[in-house]
Amino acid sequence: MACGFRRSIACQLSRLLDLPPENLIKSISAVPISRKEEVADFQLSVDSLLGNNNDHSRPDIQVQATRLAEKLKCDTVVSEISTGQGTVNFKINRELLTKTVLQQVIKDGSKYGLNSELFSGLPQKKIVVEFSSPNVAKKFHVGHLRSTIIGNFIANLKEALGHQVTRINYLGDWGMQFGLLGTGFQLFGYEEKLQSNPLQHLFEVYVQVNKEAADNKNVAKSAHEFFQRLELGDMQALELWQKFRDLSVEEYVRIYKRLGVHFDEYSGESFYREKSQEVLKLLDSKGLLQKTIKGTAIVNLSGNGDPSSICTVMRSDGTSLYATRDLAAAIDRMDKYNFDTMIYVTDKGQKKHFQQVFQMLQIMGYDWAERCQHVPFGVVQGMKTRRGEVTFLEDVLNEIRSRMLQNMASIKTTKEVENPQETAERVGLAALIIQDFKGVLLSDYQFSWDRIFQSRGDTGVFLQYTHARLHSLEETFGCGYLNDFNTACLQEPQSVSILQHLLRFDEVLYRSSQDLQPRHIVSYLLTLSHLAGMAHKTLHIKDSPPEVAGARLHLFRAVRSVLANGMKLLGITPVCRM
Ligand code: ARG
Repeated sequence: MACGFRRSIACQLSRLLDLPPENLIKSISAVPISRKEEVADFQLSVDSLLGNNNDHSRPDIQVQATRLAEKLKCDTVVSEISTGQGTVNFKINRELLTKTVLQQVIKDGSKYGLNSELFSGLPQKKIVVEFSSPNVAKKFHVGHLRSTIIGNFIANLKEALGHQVTRINYLGDWGMQFGLLGTGFQLFGYEEKLQSNPLQHLFEVYVQVNKEAADNKNVAKSAHEFFQRLELGDMQALELWQKFRDLSVEEYVRIYKRLGVHFDEYSGESFYREKSQEVLKLLDSKGLLQKTIKGTAIVNLSGNGDPSSICTVMRSDGTSLYATRDLAAAIDRMDKYNFDTMIYVTDKGQKKHFQQVFQMLQIMGYDWAERCQHVPFGVVQGMKTRRGEVTFLEDVLNEIRSRMLQNMASIKTTKEVENPQETAERVGLAALIIQDFKGVLLSDYQFSWDRIFQSRGDTGVFLQYTHARLHSLEETFGCGYLNDFNTACLQEPQSVSILQHLLRFDEVLYRSSQDLQPRHIVSYLLTLSHLAGMAHKTLHIKDSPPEVAGARLHLFRAVRSVLANGMKLLGITPVCRM
C-alpha cells in the first residue's frame, strides 16, 4: 500500500539515478504527522540514498537534494515535490491517497501493512521462540510474566510476517526442587489439594519442606536421595514427578489461555537429563572439558582462565547443570526443527548465561550457534497483588480483573456490558501490556496499578476505549453508508492526518520486526487513538450529508481495523464495549 506510492516514487528516481527501484524503496519513508497542517506524505533521505553517513558534509547533501528535486517531475501520483533538511519531499495526490489507503485497509484486513513492499522478498523462515519458562513448584514471578507477554508478541509478529513459528515453554521441571517435593509431598502433601489446585499446593509443599530441610538433616538427606533416584531413573520416583508435572502443565495451559497465550511445545529441563550426558561426552571428546580438583567439570571459554569466562557444566556427582541442559536442548531443537533463528526471552540477569551457551555451541563446532539470539528485558519493581509479592500468574490475572471491574463501575459512561468479568480482564490486560511495552525492553521500570489504569493517559485502557467507541460508531450508523462514499469528502486536516498516519503502519511494523521492540507499535497505536479522538469530535456523522457521513464512517472503520490489528499483534484482545 504505502509501498505502492513508495514504489511509484522509486521508479521515477530509479530512472534518474540509474539504480534498481528495490534499492531505493527503503530510503523513502512516510513522514510522521505533525501538528502543522500541511506536511508532505513521503520523504527521501538523500543521506541514506548515498549510502554513507559521515564523509558528506551537510551543505553538499542539501545541494544534492535540491538538484534531485529539480529533476523530478510531478505525475498522477505525486502532486508536489519540495525539499527539506537533506530530504526530497513528496506530496501524494490527495484523492488518490484517500482512496488507496482506505481501499487497502479494507482489502488487506488483518494483513494490512504486512503485505507491504518493505517485507517483499523476505524469505520465509523457521523460527523457534522460547518464552515464559517458569519453574514448577516455584514462584511464577514478574520476570516470567514479562517473558510471557514479550515472547508472545515476538511470536505473533514473526507469524504475521509469514514465518513458521514454534512456541516453546521450557519449564524448570528438573533439579533439586523435585527431590524436596518428593520428600515434602510424603510429609505435607494432600492428593486432593494436588488435584484441585496443583500449582498452589506444590508451591506450599515446597516452601514447607524447604524450611523443614533447613532444620532437619534427615529431611535434607531424604530429599537428596529422592533426587538421586530421579536422576537414576527410578520408576516409582519418576511416576510421582510425572504426576506433578502433568497436573502443573494442565493448569498452566488453562491460565495461559486467559492471557491469550498458547505453546506448541511444553518442553523442559527434564527432557535433557540423558542428552546432557551425551553433551558432556562430546565436550570431552573435543578436548573442551576440564576436570577441577573439586571433581566438577568446566569449559574454559576464553582460554586464559579468567574466572568470568568459565562455565561449569558438571557437578562432582556427574549430574548436569542448567547450562549443560541448555546445550542439549539447543542441539535437540536444531535436530527437530532445523530452525533459521531461535529466540530466547528472559530477564537480563541471564545475559551471560546465554552468551556462554552460544559460545560453547560455537566452539563445539555448531556454526548454527549464530542463529541463536537472546532477547533480554529489564526488571519490574514493585508489582504487588493483594496476596503480596507475585507468586502465581493467576493472582496477577485476578488482581487485574478485580481492579478493572472496580474502575469500570466507577466510570459513569461505562455501558452495560454482557460479560463484565471478561471485558475487565481484557481491558486490564491491555493496560498491563501497554505499560510494559512502552519503553525499551531492556529498561527496568517501577510498576504502579494506578498509572496503568488511567483512562486518559497513554494507556491500554485508552486504546481499548477508543476501539470500543469506534465500534459503537459503526453499530450506531450501520454499514449502509459504506457502499458508496466519496473520498473527496475527506480533505479536512483531521482526515488527512489520519490517512497519513495509516500510511506509516508498515514502516512501524518493519521497525519492530528489526529490533523486536514493541514500543514502535505502541506509540503508533497511541497516536492513532489520539487522532481518532480528535477526529471524532469534529467529523460528525449524524446530520452530515450521506456521502460525507459514509466517507467519515469509512475512515473510522479503517482506523478501528488498524488499531485492532496492532493490538492483536501486541497480544491484546480488542473489546467492542466497555
Ligand atoms: N526456568 C528459567 C528461570 O526461571 C528460565 C528458562 C530460560 N530458558 C532457557 N532455555 N534457559 O529462570
